[in-house]
Amino acid sequence: MLKGKKIVLGITGGIAAYKAAELTRECVKREASVRVIMTKNAAEFITPLTLQTLSGHPVFMDMYVPMRDFEMAHISLAEFADAVVIAPATANVIGKIASGLADDLLTTTVMATKAPVLICPAMNTNMYGNIIVKENINKLSASGYLFIEPAFGELACRAEGYGRLAEIPDIMEEIESVLTDKDLMGENILVTAGPTREPFDPVRFITNYSSGKMGYALAIAGKRRGANVTLISGPSALPVPRGVKHISVSTAVEMRDAVMENMETASVIIKAAAVADYRPQVRMNTKIKKREGELAVRLERNPDIIAEVGKKKGNRILVGFAVETENLMENARTKLREKNMDIIVANDVTQEGAGFAYDTNIVKIIGTDGNIEDVPLMDKMEAADRILNRIKNIIEQRS
Ligand code: CTP
Repeated sequence: MLKGKKIVLGITGGIAAYKAAELTRECVKREASVRVIMTKNAAEFITPLTLQTLSGHPVFMDMYVPMRDFEMAHISLAEFADAVVIAPATANVIGKIASGLADDLLTTTVMATKAPVLICPAMNTNMYGNIIVKENINKLSASGYLFIEPAFGELACRAEGYGRLAEIPDIMEEIESVLTDKDLMGENILVTAGPTREPFDPVRFITNYSSGKMGYALAIAGKRRGANVTLISGPSALPVPRGVKHISVSTAVEMRDAVMENMETASVIIKAAAVADYRPQVRMNTKIKKREGELAVRLERNPDIIAEVGKKKGNRILVGFAVETENLMENARTKLREKNMDIIVANDVTQEGAGFAYDTNIVKIIGTDGNIEDVPLMDKMEAADRILNRIKNIIEQRS
């Protein structure tokens, strides 16, 4: 989602400077246009050539050397930037920015830019704990500079504690957030995701192929757009998204209870979970042992969560999914009507690139007004934004 976004990456002199290479690569992979500024000390830890190769542009280091990058010749880096990211940021550069010093290209750019500045500190634990560093960070935070906390762990100096550069996926997520319009600010979005597990003994259960990817994408996209997001998730291997309230459940009954407890404050409810319609009638306390002949497990109905929500949703916008292998539109329209949804996302999982395990999806978004939007094969994050756009349309129509 960083396509076409302009990022100025400032690298300062700490051992974590080598991680800036991966950060640059990730930004470029997401189609951002990256320009790197390195301090002299940064160049002691990683070569400008590495960053030049990865960013595809000359690296800027010196204020007084004419810029070689033709495209940049007449625009200052401060104006070019949609966001400035300093990673790693040493105690020294944080101190300089906090004191209003601008004695090199990086601090000058930071001083001159109107773009958001994201500072990713990395330093020795004791330095990070130093009261002056803390005061500088607090002062800059209060002035609107954004920080991503260092991670806990072993540092290059062998000490253990806070001070490691935050993990690259976490920094990337923060960059994505910083560069996303906050058009869903004030909305409280409740998302369910993933499969459920319905156990019939302590070691076995019934489940489905849901990975949780579509629901997690919706939660992340909603959070990036400024909404408060609660994600109720069945078992999923996906990492817990930053900045989202995450509630972990296992069975359909647990998911129902969590949804009911949390729906009160929600303005939008998105049911992307693949809930098991049936559960074993009896859950044995001990493992079922094999015997001669057949084994029958009787199943009973699980609660239909979205149907329950539909009955008491009030003004909340209710979005459901229809996972189908035949009669997609007909089945989806029936579910939309019968479960009192506002939008249904119809998902024909027999198509290549659509459904549970893929990073992509192909869906049709159907509203109660009969409007059908075809969402062709695309990344689940992009599909999530299309669904959120449709939700936003309803919010706008109502207000
Ligand atoms: N759903 C739910 N609770 C259930 C079953 C489904 O909340 N016990 C929700 C899903 O999260 C989804 C929508 O209902 O948003 C449709 O789910 P789907 O499995 O496609 O349909 P079902 O209603 O279960 O109907 P069927 O299995 O007969 O297709």
